[in-house]
Amino acid sequence: MTQPAPDSPPTTPLDRPWLVLGAGGHGRVVADLLLALRASVLGFLDPGLAPGEPVGLGLVCLGDDGCLTDPRYAPGAVYVANGIGSLPGQAAPRRQAFARLAESGHLCPPLIHPMACLAHQVAVGDGAQVMAGAVLQTGARIGHGSIVNTGARVDHDCRIGAHVHLAPGVVLSGAVGVGEGAHLGTGCAVIQTITIGAGAVVAAGATVRRDLPPGTTFHPAKGTPEP
Ligand SMILES: CC(C)(COP(=O)(O)OP(=O)(O)OC[C@H]1O[C@@H](n2cnc3c(N)ncnc32)[C@H](O)[C@@H]1OP(=O)(O)O)[C@@H](O)C(=O)NCCC(=O)NCCS
Repeated sequence: MTQPAPDSPPTTPLDRPWLVLGAGGHGRVVADLLLALRASVLGFLDPGLAPGEPVGLGLVCLGDDGCLTDPRYAPGAVYVANGIGSLPGQAAPRRQAFARLAESGHLCPPLIHPMACLAHQVAVGDGAQVMAGAVLQTGARIGHGSIVNTGARVDHDCRIGAHVHLAPGVVLSGAVGVGEGAHLGTGCAVIQTITIGAGAVVAAGATVRRDLPPGTTFHPAKGTPEP
C-alpha cells in the first residue's frame, strides 16, 4: 500500500535577493547562512556603519533602515533577514526590527541553514532562523522571530513560541514547551515534557527538570533553587 506523502521540511525562498538588517555577529552568521544557500545577498543595513563600508564575507553596508524606502528594495523586490541577535535583557532591538519589517511589508521568511537537519512535519514561523548543525525532530514547531542557534537540538513535538532564543548547543527532549520571548542559554538541557514559561531565562549549561514559571531566571550556579 502507498504511504501518504509526509509534509516536507520548510525551506528558505531564493526567488528574490536578500538584505540583512544588522551587521554585527548575528547578522554575519545570517548572511553566511544565505550565502551557503547560494542566495543573492545585496548587503547589510546598519546605522552604525558608513555606506560602502566592508562588513565581511565580501559584502558591504548599503546604508541604514531608511534604504527600505528605496524602490530597489521595496517589498516584493527583496527579502529582508533580521540580523539582530538577542541576549537576556537585550531582546528588544530584535523584536522591534521584526515589527518594523512587518509594518513596512517586507517579508522575512524563515531561514534554514542547508546543514540544519529538519524532519518531516516540522513548522518554522516567519522570521525564525535555524542555524548550522541544528536538528528539529518531527512535530517540532518554531514560532515567528525565534532563533534555533548553532547545533541546538529540538526533539519531537516541542512547541517553541515566538521570539524565543535557543542559544548554541541547547538540547530539548521530546514535547518541551517554551513560551514567547524565553531565552535558553548556551548548552542548557531540558528533560521531556517540561514547560518553560514566557520570558523565562535558563542559564548557560543548566539542566531543567521541572517546569519554569513565566518571567523567572533559572541559574543554579548562582543558587537559584529548582522550581
Ligand atoms: C543566566 C545569566 C543570564 C546570568 O547573568 P547574570 O545575572 O548577569 O550573572 P553574572 O554574569 O552577574 O554572574 C553571576 C555569577 O554567576 C556565574 N555564572 C553566570 N552564568 C553562569 C552559568 N551559566 N553557569 C555557571 N555560572 C555562571 C558568574 O561567573 C558569576 O560568578 P561569580 O559571582 O562567582 O563571579 C547568564 O549567565 C547566562 O547564562 N546567559 C546566557 C548566555 C547565552 O546564552 N549566550 C548565547 C549567546 S548566542
